Amino acid sequence: MEFQAFPVNEFDPAIKGMVIGGVGIVHVFLAQFAIGGGFLMLFFQWLATTGRNPHARRFLDGYFKVLVLVSFVLGALTGVAMWFTTIQISPRTIGVMVTEYHWIWATEWTFFCLEVVAGYAFYRYGKRLDDKSRFTLLGLYSIAAWFSLFWINGILSWQLTPGGWTTERTVWSGFFNPSFWPSLIFRTITALTIASLVACLVITTMKGVDRAARRSLQNHAAWLLAPMTLMPLLGIWFLAVIPDDSRSWVLGGSAAMTLFMGLALSASLLIGLYALIGLIRTRLFINGATAALLLALAFGATAAGEFVREGVRKPFTIREYLYSNSIRPDEIATLREDGCLSVDPYPLRNADALPDDTLRMGAQVYRMQCSVCHTVAGVNGLTHLTGTWSVEQKRMNIAKLQHTKPFMPPFAGNAAEVEALVQYLSWAHDADSYQTDTINNPVVLSEIQRWLDDAGTEAGIALVSAGKGEH
Ligand code: HEC
Repeated sequence: MEFQAFPVNEFDPAIKGMVIGGVGIVHVFLAQFAIGGGFLMLFFQWLATTGRNPHARRFLDGYFKVLVLVSFVLGALTGVAMWFTTIQISPRTIGVMVTEYHWIWATEWTFFCLEVVAGYAFYRYGKRLDDKSRFTLLGLYSIAAWFSLFWINGILSWQLTPGGWTTERTVWSGFFNPSFWPSLIFRTITALTIASLVACLVITTMKGVDRAARRSLQNHAAWLLAPMTLMPLLGIWFLAVIPDDSRSWVLGGSAAMTLFMGLALSASLLIGLYALIGLIRTRLFINGATAALLLALAFGATAAGEFVREGVRKPFTIREYLYSNSIRPDEIATLREDGCLSVDPYPLRNADALPDDTLRMGAQVYRMQCSVCHTVAGVNGLTHLTGTWSVEQKRMNIAKLQHTKPFMPPFAGNAAEVEALVQYLSWAHDADSYQTDTINNPVVLSEIQRWLDDAGTEAGIALVSAGKGEH
């Protein structure tokens, strides 16, 4: 495939990852709720049909309205928002995902349509239907919703662990990749957990039923928390199949990753313990505040978990195939020769705000190679990170980017582009520290070239895997 440059958008002062992450976390939470909600309703319909809980049907008809409203409307909207933001931030990643898996997406869409139709039919006609038809409709809804997770999960897990696809390049070798099953089971359990906690909360608000009835409903809803006991095993399974460097970051290598992993674990542990001891063993009634707190913990755990899943993939969006800044590993060597700007035809948005061509060049290199993870002066801001560095340090550390931090891709441009970027960052930090014309200085350029050559074009994580990581 030829190098493809796409126009990208910036969201200063936020980093792009935060934009995708923010939308993504809300979307994932809602989508998982919609799936777990389906199974919960199916379970409650069964309780109603078999006479095991006389209030189940009443709960179902009240509860489902919330589910429909929240998951269909907001879930669908945030799903569209995901496409809308990712296409502006990482169009090339989306391009590969669509090219490699278009039939999978089409299949996923079919299940999603079935989910919407079954869900709407239940919402609209559920009250008039007999128990058997209700059960069938909810069964259809749940299976369709779960299968849309099944299909998407294959693509998301492939991004982190492409497995056999790396050499075979076939749909199924990528789809059933090493983290497919642990992710799918983990997400299914998360979906059941969220649904169960929402149910516990909704039950506390039910009017016209006594406390004993509410308690029995909650105790039934709590059964969906039982699979949480498998989470530690799944976590270990997941850690075992992800790449060595990713694992090393979660296990202490990166403070942020370790912290978020810890948060996700402790939040899940708290919910799990409460579920086992409080709800399942001693059959407590939990009040609205506690239910809301547990749900907030589940949201926190989901958010932290998604953050870690996205974070440990660095510096790739598709492991070993596409770096986060939309440059492919096998393109680095050529871009080092020809310069990265030779393949980026898109003009700068704020070109007039910059005094000369060197700074415009630097800004464009920044936009192409760094802006996906950094801002200039905002979150993870480069002027802040390099603020105390001398100009030589900037040159060296940027030329050797993948050695500076192994979760950054190698620099993918020529020596003049390194220098333009260095001067742009100096200028953005303090206009007086800008040195004009160094970009034409052969001594400067040959020194940078030496650092680029020293660094090589291999990913920095190759060093981590070989136990030579420098962090
Ligand atoms: C895949 C995401 C990603 C890309 C692309 C990326 N960086 Fe980084 N970079 C990071 C992260 C994450 C950090 C760690 C920030 C911290 O330690 O707070 C970092 C840290 C840095 C630091 C500080 C290093 C240190 O040792 O303190 C510099 C300088 C830097 N990046 C420059 C760049 C430049 C210049 C580019 C573009 C040529 C770039 N980065 C591209 C993710 C990225």
